[in-house]
Amino acid sequence: MNETLERWGSQRAFILAVTGAAVGLGNIWRFPYVAGENGGAAFLALYVGFVVLLGLPVMMAEILIGRAGRRSPSQSLAHLARQAGQSTHWRWVGSFGGVTVFLILSFYSVVSGWSIEYLVATINGSFVDAAPDQVAADFERFLADPLRMTFNHTLFLLLTMSVVAAGVSNGLEKLNNLMMPLLYVLLAVLVFHATTTVGFAQAMDWLFTPELSAVNPGVVLNAMGHAFFTLAVGACALMAYGAYMPDHQSLPRAVGMVAILDITVALLSGIAIFSVVFSQGMDPAAGPGLMFVTLPIAFADMPLGSVWLGMFFLLLLMATWTSSINLAEPMVAGLQGLGWRRSRATALVTVSVWLLGLLSVLSFSTLADVHWLAGRNFFELVSTVPSDVFLPLGGLLIAIFAVWVLPRDIALRALDAGPNGFRLWRAVVRYISIPLMCLVLISSLI
Ligand code: PFF
Repeated sequence: MNETLERWGSQRAFILAVTGAAVGLGNIWRFPYVAGENGGAAFLALYVGFVVLLGLPVMMAEILIGRAGRRSPSQSLAHLARQAGQSTHWRWVGSFGGVTVFLILSFYSVVSGWSIEYLVATINGSFVDAAPDQVAADFERFLADPLRMTFNHTLFLLLTMSVVAAGVSNGLEKLNNLMMPLLYVLLAVLVFHATTTVGFAQAMDWLFTPELSAVNPGVVLNAMGHAFFTLAVGACALMAYGAYMPDHQSLPRAVGMVAILDITVALLSGIAIFSVVFSQGMDPAAGPGLMFVTLPIAFADMPLGSVWLGMFFLLLLMATWTSSINLAEPMVAGLQGLGWRRSRATALVTVSVWLLGLLSVLSFSTLADVHWLAGRNFFELVSTVPSDVFLPLGGLLIAIFAVWVLPRDIALRALDAGPNGFRLWRAVVRYISIPLMCLVLISSLI
């Protein structure tokens, strides 16, 4: 297939698109609950360290491959490998990424559906003056209802795939432009409210005073996986966006912006959520339901609480929407690369993701006690293994390709950061990121 001619409309549009991919459930839903299960501050410190040492350099590697190839991820890899006189089997890294995003999107759509349910419930006034126990019980009841869950999963997936069908660089820009600033305003309101609660000091301490005793290999692996997940790196999904990157834009600068925006959203929602957790004497390790139970409680005692809460779920929905569009794009682009029409490719991806998602839906009721591997049910497996193992593994292969296979001049041009910037980036990837990824992956296997 030939080079794509599609481009993001401006440099800002590219940054917004990548931020849209990065900021999503990972920051607002996953970060607080995974941090909660992994001891808080120690996890946070590791995760930020991994973002800087691995996430950012590998993100640059991934996007620059897409930018240099200007095709679907698999085809870019094959095309560039051919130019370098290497095996075109590198295309399989793209296929592996396709499997990863497929698995992730299947549960991502289900959890994003929870925000639709909660948005509607908020508009209906379900949380007005609701007691904390009742909010928790309502959430349990919702999870145990596969029909309602399936309905929301379906709705969310259709919402996502309708944008994908139209081509991502149309329309996504406007969505992002509106959403990102509003999301920050709301998070700021939430954090302001958090400072007035009795649990604030404890939450700050819990989030920002690391205890070394809390660190074990599992925590390190989870922190690394989360760094990849939250930045959307390792599945070739950003490679697909890199293919549409305009010429003459410094990649490190764009990516640095994205990382700062991404980490702040996670920190702000962490502060907001854990202040409620500690004020209410709840368990920080309560798992995936953490956000859905704490936020309605937090907003219930604020003036105009329901309005804020409704806006929050709306923004969460928009944030997850832009991320799931990014998750779907490489699959659709990949099938298109095999000669499929975009509409047919979109339809196939929609149906397959929907079907697999049903297993996640049922993991909260009928299949809750069916353990697939290591005592985990389907949802527990699909929401951890692809992010914590597949993304770092994909990231490792992408990094190796970018610094050892891709010809130097092509990489230099696609990074667009001058010869010194290029040398620095390449040294970091070769001597820090790659060994570190190997170390964590191997030690977690042992
Ligand atoms: N970064 C997204 C989030 O934090 O919600 C999730 C994600 C998107 C992961 C795209 C992986 C990916 F390829």
